[in-house]
Amino acid sequence: MRIDVHLTPEDLTEQLRADARAGLTATPKWLPPKYFYDAYGSDLFERITALPEYYPTRAEREILTAHAADIARETGVKTLVELGSGSSDKTRLLLDALHAHGTLGRFVPLDVSQPALAAATEAIAADYSDIEVHAIVGDFTRDLDRIPGGGSRMVVFLGSTIGNLNPGERAAFLRELRGALEPGEWLLLGTDLVKDEQTLVAAYDDEQGITAEFNTNVLRVLNRSLGADFDLTAFDHVALWDAQHRWIEMRLRAQREMRVHLPALDLEIEFRPGEELRTEISAKFDRQSVATELAGAGFTMRQWWTDPQGRFGLSLSRTSERPTRH
Ligand code: SAH
Ligand code: TRP
Repeated sequence: MRIDVHLTPEDLTEQLRADARAGLTATPKWLPPKYFYDAYGSDLFERITALPEYYPTRAEREILTAHAADIARETGVKTLVELGSGSSDKTRLLLDALHAHGTLGRFVPLDVSQPALAAATEAIAADYSDIEVHAIVGDFTRDLDRIPGGGSRMVVFLGSTIGNLNPGERAAFLRELRGALEPGEWLLLGTDLVKDEQTLVAAYDDEQGITAEFNTNVLRVLNRSLGADFDLTAFDHVALWDAQHRWIEMRLRAQREMRVHLPALDLEIEFRPGEELRTEISAKFDRQSVATELAGAGFTMRQWWTDPQGRFGLSLSRTSERPTRH
């Protein structure tokens, strides 16, 4: 087992400094999503995946349970690369299928969260003792060139994490990914699907308030990393469906007027009562929108599966023969 660190806690704090300065002085205020996932945030996300309202994880697991063997047979890959791997829980269905198929030699999980990655990697290395586990602490919008080559590879990107990128970032990410792969290699992509507003909003605003706690955690990270003094109890969690953009938007709404100090940035910011800080989008897709975005980046969709209720989509694509130039 090996863990390459291409993103240290110091690098992450450095990026947070720049992003917080840009986002918190903008109108409207915003913060990028990757800072949710410190050890506590990764733990909260795992709790979200078990919530009754949060259907995406269960739906995606249903698809993988039904089709992992098909995926192993069709791809026959030696290396499984996982982006934003987190706990890699559902990924075990693919590891098992490729193992049974007799081709699996290496697993390469990549995640920005070092604690989550270390825990998942140790568990997988222990349970799959005859494969090489090569973990990478990195940012999938920056470090795709760190993925080891050699042998045939399938990149898996589950949980609809691609939907947390905005459309421009998504296109750039897919082009980068295409550039990091050889002709004939594979991408298995999980995408949550457009559905009724009530189901969507409930998935991001659960009864128990775990998602609210997760959303607020980004302020806890700012307090700890930048010495800020956000009052976590003075912000409300907001999740709303933007039908025009087809995404869920997560925000933190100030309950009252506030002045927040960020000593590490030598910055002071103000919130008006009711002012909202945008923390995350979660875009929703349909089969055609996924196929179009993939094709634009040089991938050809070969298979498309959904769960029996049609809530979540999993697509298997192959890099087109000729890479798109950029
Ligand atoms: N794949 C898992 C986890 C999804 S949660 C699942 O399907 O349940 C999103 C994961 O992506 C988290 O583990 C988070 O740490 C990671 N992540 C978020 N932004 C990232 C980035 N820019 N680079 C690498 N990993 C990222
Ligand atoms: N990729 C997950 C999703 O978009 C991430 C997520 C789930 C999330 N619940 C969240 C992000 C709540 C922010 C807040 O479904």
